[in-house]
Amino acid sequence: MLAPIATTVAEVREAVAAARRAGKSVGFVPTMGALHEGHASLVRAAAATSQFVVVSVFVNPTQFGPNEDFAKYPRTLESDQKLCSESGAHLVFAPTAAEMYPERSVTFVEVKELDAELDGPARPGHFRGVCTVVLKLFNIVLPDVSHFGAKDAQQARIIRQMVRDLNVPVVVRVEPTVREADGLAMSSRNRYLSPAERALAPAIYRALQNAQARAAAGEVDVARLESALAAELAAIPGARVDYARVLDASTLQPLARLDREVLVAVAVFIGTTRLIDNIVIGERGIRNAVS
Ligand code: PAJ
Repeated sequence: MLAPIATTVAEVREAVAAARRAGKSVGFVPTMGALHEGHASLVRAAAATSQFVVVSVFVNPTQFGPNEDFAKYPRTLESDQKLCSESGAHLVFAPTAAEMYPERSVTFVEVKELDAELDGPARPGHFRGVCTVVLKLFNIVLPDVSHFGAKDAQQARIIRQMVRDLNVPVVVRVEPTVREADGLAMSSRNRYLSPAERALAPAIYRALQNAQARAAAGEVDVARLESALAAELAAIPGARVDYARVLDASTLQPLARLDREVLVAVAVFIGTTRLIDNIVIGERGIRNAVS
């Protein structure tokens, strides 16, 4: 059976209130649609945790820059509804932009400091748009637990902070990145890649794995790790490196030596398609590195 699609805030509130009256816990997975196995894994995690699962499908205009892919972002609601249903969702919330942003909205949520690096400077205003829409969605759905992907590590870190700083009564869970068989992180944007570009794209994850291997082999100098990573990514034909960074996994601030858990995060244009990926090198990896 297909999970029904709600298009208005009122419909979602009603459906969630009915689930609450029936004593059900509520899980939530916010998405922009064009759903793939990565999203499905979040919906399955939500279904394993909560008794009533809502998935939102909304290409949020406020998180796209003027020269980004808002207009061409893939919109595939029919197959999204199918994937949500098969993965255990009970309701799909697919509002229009007018429903989410009636009249002129002038209130925004900004999380400072954690947006100083990576996609913060690369995409000005992006995280403000993300935080604002996610808080709005939390306030509409009122979930107990919400599930996010490690694929967007900075986004997950920022949302955790927003929830903490603003006392939002939602538990944030972060689920592992789902990859294609060849290692490429699944992304709605992978469908922009030409066959030739798609064949090159797994080199991004290989470069991340090589950084991890260098750390495990004893490299502790972050600048050297970053430059080796950037060079490897730049060697992908047709690629342009937006950033290749090794940051403190908790503060997302730069550091000099691998002496704590780090986030290794990259953004690479393959042709005109911007792909991001990351890995965390945990304390065990670092212990290996310094032993
Ligand atoms: P979107 O890119 O559609 O991603 C929705 C959720 O799926 C995010 O939490 C993202 O991290 C997760 N996800 C994407 N690819 C994944 C993969 N390969 N493995 C595991 N999880 C993956 O992120 C957004 O939408 C938006 O910014 C949103 C939070 C919905 C706000 O508009």
